[in-house]
Amino acid sequence: MFSKLIFLLIVPAVFGINLQVSYQQGPCQSANVSTMPFFEMDRFLGEWVEHYRSLLLDDQDDCGKNYYSAFNGTFYNLTETKTNIATGRNTSSAFSVRLAEPLSNPVYGKLLVNNEYGMYYVPLTDYTRYAFVQACEAVNSTHYVLHLWLLGRPGANININEFFIGGTDLLRPTIQDDRCIGIFPNTNTTTVSPTTPDGASAIMVPSVLALLILKAFQMFV
Ligand SMILES: *[C@@H]1O[C@H](CO)[C@@H](O)[C@H](O)[C@H]1NC(C)=O
Ligand SMILES: *[C@@H]1O[C@H](CO)[C@@H](O)[C@H](O)[C@H]1NC(C)=O
Ligand SMILES: *[C@@H]1O[C@H](CO)[C@@H](O)[C@H](O)[C@H]1NC(C)=O
Ligand SMILES: *[C@@H]1O[C@H](CO)[C@@H](O)[C@H](O)[C@H]1NC(C)=O
Ligand SMILES: *[C@@H]1O[C@H](CO)[C@@H](O)[C@H](O)[C@H]1NC(C)=O
Ligand SMILES: *[C@@H]1O[C@H](CO)[C@@H](O)[C@H](O)[C@H]1NC(C)=O
Repeated sequence: MFSKLIFLLIVPAVFGINLQVSYQQGPCQSANVSTMPFFEMDRFLGEWVEHYRSLLLDDQDDCGKNYYSAFNGTFYNLTETKTNIATGRNTSSAFSVRLAEPLSNPVYGKLLVNNEYGMYYVPLTDYTRYAFVQACEAVNSTHYVLHLWLLGRPGANININEFFIGGTDLLRPTIQDDRCIGIFPNTNTTTVSPTTPDGASAIMVPSVLALLILKAFQMFV
């Protein structure tokens, strides 16, 4: 609690992230993916709507939604739904999630997910409006690529210009309009409390757009 407050006070009120312009050489283990300290999984639960996704290896799907819910003390369920509007293909996938390092101090936003990525990194979220999620994909035996998603809570007005993202041309806004309604039943089974459990962060978090400067990734030129 005390260390959290100190952390919030010393970091500049800016969020920066440089997107990689190409594939990176090496295994995913060599990717330095920034993750949020003092990550609170309970506040991360609930429904997230996809606003932006990486273009590299884009599968052309839209209407993306993620639903996180608690399963037991250790495991969480994640349901991801999306639709390819052009082909009409609807995809719903259920995954099991747990904190990668639940006992670290502080706990970082690193989630083990039993999908093709294996790990989701949360570089930043305010829990109530937006969340950034990254995943590393090994494109072949020698190269990897980092994906980025910008998610928002349902109804949240997210403007990508709130954030300092280098390489936004590598992201595309995804469709979230009437074409998405009714394709999937609402799988939102988690009650998300809008109140923050911590007085310090309740004061600090809404007052700044973002809290971290992420270590910039090496640009591949
Ligand atoms: C990741 O961080 C380590 C330690 O700071 C550094 O040695 C390494 O070069 C970094 N890797 C990349 C790809 O930036
Ligand atoms: C939670 O569920 C997982 C997966 O079914 C299981 O391996 C684990 O033992 C459970 N943990 C608790 C605390 O019940
Ligand atoms: C939730 O996750 C647990 C543990 O992995 C799994 O046993 C269960 O089937 C999942 N529930 C749903 C609805 O996907
Ligand atoms: C892996 O992919 C990169 C980027 O497309 C390419 O430059 C490299 O030659 C590939 N390596 C192998 C072993 O296929
Ligand atoms: C996807 O869902 C929509 C809305 O329910 C439905 O009209 C469409 O047929 C579905 N597509 C497929 C391939 O089942
Ligand atoms: C999800 O559940 C929460 C808590 O019950 C509720 O406030 C929210 O409106 C629900 N979202 C949707 C899309 O139904």
